[in-house]
Amino acid sequence: MRIVQLSDPHVVPAAKQPVHGQDTLERLRAAVNAVNRLDPSPDIVVMTGDQSNDGTEASYRALKDVLSPLRFPCYMATGNHDYRPVFRRVMLGESGAGSAPYYYTLDRSGYRIIVLDTQDEGEVSGRLDDGQLDWLEQELSSGLPSVICMHHPPVPVGVAWMDELILLDNTRFLEICGAAASLRLILCGHVHHDFRMDLEHATVLTAPSVGLQFRKDPVIMPDGSRVIATDEPAAFRIVDIDGPRWKTSIHQLVL
Ligand SMILES: [Fe+2]
Ligand SMILES: [Fe+2]
Repeated sequence: MRIVQLSDPHVVPAAKQPVHGQDTLERLRAAVNAVNRLDPSPDIVVMTGDQSNDGTEASYRALKDVLSPLRFPCYMATGNHDYRPVFRRVMLGESGAGSAPYYYTLDRSGYRIIVLDTQDEGEVSGRLDDGQLDWLEQELSSGLPSVICMHHPPVPVGVAWMDELILLDNTRFLEICGAAASLRLILCGHVHHDFRMDLEHATVLTAPSVGLQFRKDPVIMPDGSRVIATDEPAAFRIVDIDGPRWKTSIHQLVL
């Protein structure tokens, strides 16, 4: 099975571009074109959060428009920049949408894809409450080879300013994952760079952003402001899973 991970597009409408110096709308449009041309084609596309930069209706409408040519099923997790009520209304077509966490399971081709909602409303860092962790434990008990998709990485990525902002209170999450021998991968976003850590059974991967990459050492400007973005290309992750084996690569976009 081939999964394409598009992470952190941080979309805003064309009139509000750029975001940290990059046109995130055009970068996502280029990514969609590139994904459509992949050979072999992906079975699914997962978007691991920060779909919009500002959580507004206009941004989600722009996102929906730019994703419309995508030829493959696309599934989303929410990030700290998303706003669940508007996300649910525009992207999921729900009426009277509330702010309930958005987490779910997909079973595809003998694999279980578990999409978590790590958003901690009003915070940049992430959190999973006991209700979602109970549910995760149950979903992982199927014995199917499984992949978790989530926005905030559950382990430090070795970058000081980012590591204050990852999944907080990760102890029970890691215990649940450690007990799940069938768990293969944990695909995360949020940190806007490529990172890997092997756990007991599973491997944590973070993806570069399809919108803009983050500096590991922000530049402090004379006025005290911080520059956190780089000029690096947009990129996405490709994961190929075959039984217990998997391999991954990063596809960079040249605009
Ligand atoms: Fe992000
Ligand atoms: Fe984020």
